[in-house]
Amino acid sequence: MDLYNAIESRISIRKYEDKTLHEDVINIIKEKLNNINPMYDDIKVRLELLEGNSLGMGFFYGFAKIVAPYCIVAISENKKGYLENIGFIEEQVVLALTDIGIGTCWLGTFNDKKIREVLNLNDSEKITNVISVGYPFKEKNFRNSVFRNFVGRSRKQDTEIAYYMQWKKTACEYLNKKQSIKKILHMSILAPSGGNKQPVYVVFTENSVSFFVENKRNELIINRWAEMDAGIFISHFYLCCIKENIKISFYKEKSPMKKYNVSPEFSYIISLNILL
Ligand SMILES: Cc1cc2nc3c(=O)[nH]c(=O)nc-3n(C[C@H](O)[C@H](O)[C@H](O)COP(=O)(O)O)c2cc1C
Repeated sequence: MDLYNAIESRISIRKYEDKTLHEDVINIIKEKLNNINPMYDDIKVRLELLEGNSLGMGFFYGFAKIVAPYCIVAISENKKGYLENIGFIEEQVVLALTDIGIGTCWLGTFNDKKIREVLNLNDSEKITNVISVGYPFKEKNFRNSVFRNFVGRSRKQDTEIAYYMQWKKTACEYLNKKQSIKKILHMSILAPSGGNKQPVYVVFTENSVSFFVENKRNELIINRWAEMDAGIFISHFYLCCIKENIKISFYKEKSPMKKYNVSPEFSYIISLNILL
């Protein structure tokens, strides 16, 4: 896969050709769905490819219903960390599909009841989200251009979301010294996020990076997609490190909020050891 090209060319596709996918493409998708790399391997996850035309996807606060020929439904055990885990997993599929010219859109809005019926799910199985899938509609159209520019074009700057050693301490000098990490961070900032909120912030040390999300106000959760967004962002970071031959391994800090003096509106997700 041409990873950087996939990351740079991926956009959320909200209008699709009314065409079934070629059998070879279906086989590639199914193979990818069965060969995914989790963040936590003790959380049961299932990804199902469904024909999607009548499934009721993507209401975007009642604004835009998405009609796509297929969708991937993500089903997870409801366990601590399941949202970042599913984000991490599914974004690998999204990038692989982008690489072969297939359009996708992450959707947090979907008809839960209908999809549960189609898949005959039991109460312990939670649908976390769906991803619409199909050939992107080729001609210029409102949903893939104007609408996308409205909800999802702008991105935060690296220095806005990256700190060094301490919360709010600029990572500017560190990033200028470590150009490969600067590039990887840029590639991670291009990750999709719910409502394009881009809630992920990072703290670097010389040989680690810790990921946090802005999701609370007065101790109340205000962004229910934030952890999934974090998993997506971390997926980009992780895949780019592998591409750059940087050795990495996940670990959890003992008291990350205290250690880095993180603002209380944020939650800790995970850290990576980085061996440059
Ligand atoms: C977890 C998640 C949920 C999303 N839910 C919706 C949705 O319900 N409807 C929609 O049109 N787009 C949805 N999106 C797509 C985002 O709006 C989009 O990723 C963001 O605006 C950035 O634009 P881009 O993906 O084109 O770069 C979602 C994205 C994520 C990551």
